[in-house]
Amino acid sequence: MDNDLEILKQETLSALDKAQDLREWDAVRVAALGKSAPLTQKLKELGKLAPDERKERGAILNNLRQELTAAIETKKLILEEVALQKKLSAEAVDISLPVSIQNGLIHPLSRTIEEITAIFGAMGFTVAEGPNIDSDWYNFSALNISEYHPARADHDTFYLPSDPLNHQQRLLRTQTSTVQIRTLLKEEPPIRIIAPGRTYRADHDATHSPMFHQCEGMVVDKGITLGHLKGCLVDFLRAFFGIPHLPIRFRSSYFPFTEPSIEIDIGWNRKTGELGGKSDWLEILGSGMMHARVLANCGVDPKEWQAFAFGVGLERLTMLKYGIADLRAFFESDVRWLRHYGFSPLKPASMHEGL
Ligand code: DAH
Repeated sequence: MDNDLEILKQETLSALDKAQDLREWDAVRVAALGKSAPLTQKLKELGKLAPDERKERGAILNNLRQELTAAIETKKLILEEVALQKKLSAEAVDISLPVSIQNGLIHPLSRTIEEITAIFGAMGFTVAEGPNIDSDWYNFSALNISEYHPARADHDTFYLPSDPLNHQQRLLRTQTSTVQIRTLLKEEPPIRIIAPGRTYRADHDATHSPMFHQCEGMVVDKGITLGHLKGCLVDFLRAFFGIPHLPIRFRSSYFPFTEPSIEIDIGWNRKTGELGGKSDWLEILGSGMMHARVLANCGVDPKEWQAFAFGVGLERLTMLKYGIADLRAFFESDVRWLRHYGFSPLKPASMHEGL
């Protein structure tokens, strides 16, 4: 090999050796094999030589080109590997460090719904649902609350524009009792359902929110009496609050959709907020034997089937059970509040563990 070719080879190999990264490597590649590289020029000039000389010199030049190409490709692989290792060590995760992410928690209201579902589930109830936007008929008329009935005024209803298809007055349901009607129209008795869900009334203070939650319950069967209502709700309240001898008082009341109507109070201490004593009574639940007219409105013969129903506010149940003072905090999405009152999703409510 000519001296100048030997120099070219040594210079390229030494520059290649010094290249620290892919950019420097590319500069060496272009200088050695690019269009204006000396070797490329020499290859171009081969045509000017006599055939014999061209053959000999062509072989030398092409060998050199192959040798340099191989060295350049090898160096590329080495630099790529170095770059990968650098990236991996820069992005390394120390898995021995404690996790700094806060796990999600179950909102206390969701927890209450889970617990109620577990308790009534064990008594053979299933969960029913209805829409939040409903019609005046489902929310009032079918429940025996006629157009000018004063009970409507108690509810501070949010009305919506009428349904353009059937011209029915629409509203945000003020009570989950709408689900009684929807279930009776859809299912054949015997029926045992609970219906937890959102309800709405124009009310806002420390114990009222314009959006709140209720749970409705309904049992339709043959020969259902007030005794069944009583047994079922006593068991429920004692299981939910975890107080086996929780004092419970049944007080006669009035709801348009029940006859007789019963309000249920539990024993507590008004000053300390503690449950279980007998010093004061706190109203907690509305209930009653379903009015024959409500059953008839849904095509169920009240002579054949009897029913009881109840409705309970879920915020109040939750506040009492966990000692939460202000209802508005339920809906402020403050993670500090949730960290304090929330529940681990890995420990769901279950009857066998005790609620
Ligand atoms: N819907 C009633 C309310 O919002 C609660 C209620 C009372 C529901 C008696 C019932 C019932 O099913 O039988 O105040």
